[in-house]
This record gives sequence, structure tokens and C-alpha cells, in this order.
Amino acid sequence: MMKPFLFVLLLQLLSLTQHGLGQPNHNCNLPEKDSSTLRVFHVSSPCSPFKPKKMSWEESVMQMLTEDQARLQYLTSLVARKSIAPVAWARQLIQSPTYIVRVNVGTPPQSFLMALDTSNDVSWLPCKGCVGCGSALFGSERSTSFKGIACGTPQCQQVTSPSCFQNVCTFNQTYGGSTLAATLSQDTVALSRDPIPGYVFGCIQKTTGGSIPPQGLLGLGRGPLSLLSQTPSLYRSTFSYCLPSFRSSNFSGSMKLGPVAQPKKMHYTPLLTNPKRPSLYYVNLIGIKVGSKTVNIPADALAFNPNNGAGTVIDTGTVYTRLATPAYIAVRDEFRRRMGKANVTSLGGFETCYSVPITVPSITFLFQDMKLTLDQDNFLLRSTSTSISCLAIAAAPENVNSALNVIANMQQQNHRVVFDLPNNRLGISRETCT
Ligand SMILES: *[C@@H]1O[C@H](CO)[C@@H](O)[C@H](O)[C@H]1NC(C)=O
Ligand SMILES: *[C@@H]1O[C@H](CO)[C@@H](O)[C@H](O)[C@H]1NC(C)=O
Ligand SMILES: *[C@@H]1O[C@H](CO)[C@@H](O)[C@H](O)[C@H]1NC(C)=O
Repeated sequence: MMKPFLFVLLLQLLSLTQHGLGQPNHNCNLPEKDSSTLRVFHVSSPCSPFKPKKMSWEESVMQMLTEDQARLQYLTSLVARKSIAPVAWARQLIQSPTYIVRVNVGTPPQSFLMALDTSNDVSWLPCKGCVGCGSALFGSERSTSFKGIACGTPQCQQVTSPSCFQNVCTFNQTYGGSTLAATLSQDTVALSRDPIPGYVFGCIQKTTGGSIPPQGLLGLGRGPLSLLSQTPSLYRSTFSYCLPSFRSSNFSGSMKLGPVAQPKKMHYTPLLTNPKRPSLYYVNLIGIKVGSKTVNIPADALAFNPNNGAGTVIDTGTVYTRLATPAYIAVRDEFRRRMGKANVTSLGGFETCYSVPITVPSITFLFQDMKLTLDQDNFLLRSTSTSISCLAIAAAPENVNSALNVIANMQQQNHRVVFDLPNNRLGISRETCT
């Protein structure tokens, strides 16, 4: 028999799902699940305060592709000791972070929804007085534990383009199509419930361009000043996330910090370090299957190359997987061949779209020691208004000197992805993100 309070709760849930979407509701402000698990929201989920512009499905697909293009330019620009890149994409990008987590900064805590970024090391957030930032600003004067980082300190040597202003370390960085200028600072930061005293981050003073996440960014890269580098004893360079689908009615996924929180049974592939781009998480992609066939890809389109930075990375900030052109063409052509006579159309950068209901072959990424067979939702974009469906994989930009394949967030949705740096391995397994 159903207990009355459960019944009332159920009624409330029902009415919320019928009327409450699009406004903050019961699910959004729940406390974190436990001391090592954070809730992860999609930027357009009902729990997100960021209101992406209302647009048609086709428009939003194009926009995400355009943003991805800037992201790819950014990723390829991340060459060691040269991470200030000219801003090749001056166009305004509206919204860049795809997944956000709640982070408390300062004493008493001020709360921010920061973008997750596995390809950036240092974290940053907009601070009071910032020129070009939004309205959610960190007031450092209201925090009793806030400090500036002095010039000449080891931390100041770990940021890009450091300089000195009134003996406080400042730095500039490019990000996507944007630039930011920040002062290097430190304060207590709490993810989930664990406070991290003296966490070093950039306090943004000025930004240009539109791709800086409005409430800051949590740097999860492999380099100095990233979350992992700053919490060796707390989280032991181990974390995982489960990214909810942007269509999911479940509002949040999760990020689990530290080795204890991770699933026990996983398949892993070795994590590789590329000295050309030391912040990025490289893996060894050795082949791709369409249906049961391993497509024929020239070896150098997938090969890991520490001399020029080529290889395959796992990234949270790119939406659609990008493959080096020869790999992309091989996958596209086999996919089309398997679709037989169905008429193929295109949509923006996607060239393999069908406007009739279709049955598609599976797609499997073969990594060293691990294979990942994607669910249709991970590689097929389906229009909400028309019957058009597209293969959501695109070619990497041609104008770069080395082939960079990017396994992007749409392909990772509803999987747990474990980054285990002490054991130099990355695990992926199917999981419904809640
Ligand atoms: C950093 O950016 C600021 C503001 O845009 C600019 O005034 C300064 O010259 C830049 N510093 C360096 C070292 O590029
Ligand atoms: C939402 O989560 C529940 C488990 O809590 C799961 O059974 C369900 O399939 C999920 N729904 C979607 C759309 O992901
Ligand atoms: C493909 O398009 C052509 C021209 O519009 C049409 O004649 C043909 O019937 C279509 N084929 C299929 C399988 O829908």
C-alpha cells in the first residue's frame, strides 16, 4: 500500500513534469549526493539558469557545429608552452559550456555553476569589476579566505603569459573564440562537500568574445593548476563523470571524485600523454566499425604522434565527434553504403542525413584493450520537428598540421567515463546518467 506522503510526492512530481519544466524545481537544488559526488547539469536542462536562445532544431544543430569549430581550433592551438593562440575566430559565440557543476567559492561560500572542461588546466571565474562578464560575479572582498598570488611564485610560472600588477600575478588566456585577463588568486573551493583550502584559480577582470562560460570554468585537464594537480591527496588524480543526454528527462548526471567512488568493474584503455598537448587526455583509437565491418582507415589518420600532437582525445567541451578527414570519409561512406537506397541529404556540416524513418548500422570505436559500441542516441541526431536524422560525426578542420580526432560529449552521454591517472587508464561503460 502506498504511504500517503509518498502519494503526495508522486502527485507533485507528476504536476512538475507536466507544468514545471523550464523553471527551477524540486530536483535542481538538492544537496549533493555524498561527499565525493557532484551533480552535473546540461546547460539547457531545466535546472540551468543559462537560457540558450530559443531556436529551431536545425538552428541549434548549426550553432553547436559552429561552436565546435571554434573549440577544435582551440584544442589544436593548445601546443605546449604556446597556449596563447591568435584568436582565429572573432565571431561572437553565444554559449559554450555544455555541462555545468555547482561549485562553492570563498568563506562564506558564494555559489557558481561552472563549466566542466577536461582540456583546460587552470580554473577561473568572473570577479567583481570584470569588464565583459555577466552578472554572476565573485565578490572577493566578501570572502575572508581570499588571497592574491604573488608574482614570482611557482603557481605564477604555471599560467600562460603571466605578468605582474601591484605584485599580484596576472595572466591572459585565449579560450575558444575569446580572450580573458585574470589575476591569479586563491580561496577555499568546495566541490560537493569537501572544502579545498587555498585553491588557486584565475579571477577574471576582463573578457572579450562570447565563449567564456558565464559563471566560470572548472579545469579538469592534466597539467599544473588543474583540479587534479591541486588535490593529490584528496582525490588522487581520479574522477569520473556521467553526462546526461540533452534530451533526458533526468535533469542531472554526476561527477565522482576520488578512487573510492569509482565503479569496480570497468573496461579500460591506456591513457597516453602527448608532450605536444600535455593538458589533453589522449587514448589510442585503433579502428572504427560500422555495423560488423571495420572500415579501412589509413594508419596515420588515427596514429598517436608525440612529435606533432596527432592522435585521439576525449573532450567534454566539443559536442560532436570529429575525425581526421580520411577516417571520417571511411566511416561516412560505409554508413551510407549500409543505408542502401535511402536518399541522403545534408544539414550544415553533417552530410549524412535522411529524411525518412531509418534503421541504422551500429558504430563501434575500437580503442586499445576496450571497445565502445555506441547507442543510436550517441551518434544519430533526430529532429524534434521533422523526420530528419543525421549521422552526428563530422570531419576535423583541414587547416591544421596534425590529425586530431576528438571523442566529443554527445558520444559520451549516458556512459560513465573514468579518468584514472595513477594507473594511466581511461574507462568507459554504459550507464543511465541520473
Ligand atoms: C593581457 O590583457 C590585458 C587586457 O586585455 C592587456 O592590457 C595586457 O596587455 C595583456 N597582457 C599580456 C602580457 O599580453
Ligand atoms: C531516468 O532515470 C531512471 C533511473 O533513475 C531510468 O530508469 C530512466 O530510464 C531515465 N530516463 C531517461 C530518459 O534517461
Ligand atoms: C530519391 O529521390 C529521387 C528524386 O527525388 C526519387 O525519385 C526517388 O524515389 C528517391 N528514392 C527513395 C528510395 O526514396
